[in-house]
Amino acid sequence: MNAPAKTEEFATNLPAGVYAETVLSVTHYTDRLFRFTMTRPAGFRFRSGEFAMIGLVVDDKPLYRAYSIASPAWAEELEFFSIKVADGPLTQHLQKIKPGDKVLMRKKPTGTLVLDALTPGKRLYMFSTGTGIAPFASLIRDPETYEKFEEVILTHTCREVAELQYGFDLINEIKADEMLSEIVGDKLKHYATVTREDYPFKGRITDLIESGKMFADLGVPPLNPETDRGMLCGSMAMIKDTAALLEKAGLTEGANNNPAEFVIERAFVG
Ligand code: A2P
Repeated sequence: MNAPAKTEEFATNLPAGVYAETVLSVTHYTDRLFRFTMTRPAGFRFRSGEFAMIGLVVDDKPLYRAYSIASPAWAEELEFFSIKVADGPLTQHLQKIKPGDKVLMRKKPTGTLVLDALTPGKRLYMFSTGTGIAPFASLIRDPETYEKFEEVILTHTCREVAELQYGFDLINEIKADEMLSEIVGDKLKHYATVTREDYPFKGRITDLIESGKMFADLGVPPLNPETDRGMLCGSMAMIKDTAALLEKAGLTEGANNNPAEFVIERAFVG
């Protein structure tokens, strides 16, 4: 039996603390990236930016990996943005899911990329690479983000142009949503760059910060701990180097129980 069939069988007798939800849609972007949505359990609450443990039954056992919830806290459906790895224990199976299949989810979401972990500010930077855009896909669609910040800047850096498409789709979906587009207005800026192909915006975000090009491109002043807040999600190397730049500019790292000027979470690999 394959993973979806085994998962369906497992779902008929679920242990406490686990949901089995139905896949609603699947969009493949590249041979390495896909997006899917599934039903949201009635009692499932989360804060925009948090992650949950998602799984399938593999080799007769449920296998879970951490996935940022890409949909906002108010949404009826749950959305995820995932990597596909040919020999990835979970993603080699998860990439094959189809509408109607079951996906497991543990009941308790968690995470540090939440608005409550930041002190009040004017401008919120969300720095992401690859699938690290997922928690920000949630936050840029949450009205609370725009209540708390005058300006929201989402940076997304990938190796290739095709990997940026999910980000562009999100922006277009916001523009097409009458209610959300009114709330977002012109507060949201999407700054997409690639590192290994030709593209108008090229380079690692760290280099673009250090050279000042990012600020010039966006028409914003340099980092300032009084006005600017940050959230970081993506590769460990990007997080480490970007956090160092934020600290150099005088921002300090916060957490849920200790709000400060920036928070970090590595992007999870399936
Ligand atoms: P690069 O192509 O120059 O390595 P990955 O696919 O390895 O997770 O990387 C995702 C993106 O993050 C790539 O565009 C990559 O650039 C970039 N990146 C990798 N390491 C760093 C770093 N230390 N600082 C900033 N960006 C980085």
